[in-house]
Amino acid sequence: MATLVTGGTGYIGSHTVVELLGAGKDVVILDNFYNSSPKVLPRIAELAGRAPAFEECDIRDRAGLDRIFETYKIDSVIHFAGLKAVGESCEKPLLYYENNIGGTVTLCEAMAAHGCKNIVFSSSATVYGSGNVSPLREDMPVGGTTNPYGTTKYYIEHILEDTAAADKDWHVCLLRYFNPIGAHKSGRIGEMPNGIPNNLLPYITQVAAGKLDHLNIYGNDYNTPDGTGVRDYIHVVDLALGHLKAMDYTADHAGVSIFNLGTGKGYSVLEIVAAFEKASGVKIPYEFAPRRPGDLDSVYSDPSKAERVLGWKAERGIDEMCADSYRWQHQNPNGYED
Ligand code: NAD
Ligand code: UD1
Repeated sequence: MATLVTGGTGYIGSHTVVELLGAGKDVVILDNFYNSSPKVLPRIAELAGRAPAFEECDIRDRAGLDRIFETYKIDSVIHFAGLKAVGESCEKPLLYYENNIGGTVTLCEAMAAHGCKNIVFSSSATVYGSGNVSPLREDMPVGGTTNPYGTTKYYIEHILEDTAAADKDWHVCLLRYFNPIGAHKSGRIGEMPNGIPNNLLPYITQVAAGKLDHLNIYGNDYNTPDGTGVRDYIHVVDLALGHLKAMDYTADHAGVSIFNLGTGKGYSVLEIVAAFEKASGVKIPYEFAPRRPGDLDSVYSDPSKAERVLGWKAERGIDEMCADSYRWQHQNPNGYED
C-alpha cells in the first residue's frame, strides 16, 4: 500500500517524502509544479536511495485523480498541495479559494470514490487568528483569519471536520504548522521561493548570498522583549518526521485529530539574525521598517499534545536550522537550477 503525497515536490513535501521513503513506505507524489521543480525528484531519490512514483497532476483534475487511484494501491494521503503566498492571496482571492478549497474538495471526492478515507492535512498556525494569546493550544478557538490564504486553511479544516462527522469511516488529521525553516542536512533539497521572499529566513539567506541588499525588520515596537516579532521556528526535517507519526496515528484513529507542530519556543527577528550570523559567519545588514499589516507580536505553540499523543517532539535547535538554511542557499544559489 502506498501513501499519496500531494504537493510532494514542494518544500515541506520533498523533505517528508525523503523521510517516508527512508522509513520504508511506498510513496506516490502528485504535483502540478506550480511552485516546484521536476529537478527535485532525482535529488529525493539520491537522498532516499530509491525513487518515489511521480504523477504530474492537478488536485482539481478529477479524471487525473481517478486514474492515479486506479493505477496505485493508495491507502492514505498527505495533502500538502496548495498556494501559500499571503500577499498574492489578497490580490487573487478567487485563485486561492478555487485552488486550495476547490482542489481539496475534488481530492476528497476522488478519495471517497476509491475507498481511501485517510488524510493528513497541512494546516497552519494562522487559523488561530489574532484572538488567542500564545502559547497556542489545539483546543483554543480558531477563525478571525486576516487574509484569504489563512481563510482557506480555516475553511478546509471545517470541510474535513464536516466530512468526518457525516461519514465515520474518515480518518482526518489536521496539522497546524508554526514557522518551518531549514533544509535537509545534505544541502541537496530546500526551499525555493519565487521572486522576492516574503518570509523571514528565505529573505535573510538571500541577503547573505548578496542577492538582496539588506533585511527590513518589520516593526521594533512590538510588545516583545526586544520589540521585534516573535515566532516559533521549526526545522523542516522535524516537521517532516511529525507527519510520519501523524500518519501512523491517523491510520488507527477515526474522526478528526488536531496537532500543533512547533517547538514551543519563540525567537525574535533580532535573535534569528544573530543566530544566522553565528551559523553562517556572514553579517546581515538590516534596517527597521514599519510594521507589516496583519503581523502579531508573538506567536508560538504549546506542542505538548503532539508529544503526549504522537510521541513526537522537535529535536533540532535554532543554530542547526540557520546552518542548514545557509548550506542549502550557499550550495544552490539558484535553487534547483544549479
Ligand atoms: P510549496 O509551495 O513549496 O509546496 C506546495 C506544492 O503544491 C508545490 O509543489 C506546488 O507546485 C503544489 N501545488 C499547488 N497547487 C497545486 C494543485 N492545484 N495541484 C497539484 N499541485 C499543486 O509549499 P510548502 O511550504 O511546502 O507548503 C506545503 C503546505 O503546507 C501548503 O499547503 C502550505 O499552505 C502549508 N503550510 C506551509 C507553511 C510554510 O511556512 N511553508 C506554513 C503553514 C502551512
Ligand atoms: C507568515 C504569514 C502566515 C504564513 C507563514 C508561513 C503573514 C502576516 N503571515 O507568517 O500566514 O502561514 O508566513 O508562510 O504574512 N519579518 C521581517 N522582515 C521580513 C520578513 C519577515 O521583519 O522581510 C518578520 C515578520 O514581521 C515576523 C517574522 O519576521 O515577525 C516572521 O515572518 P514570516 O517568516 O513572514 O512568518 P509569519 O509572519 O509568522
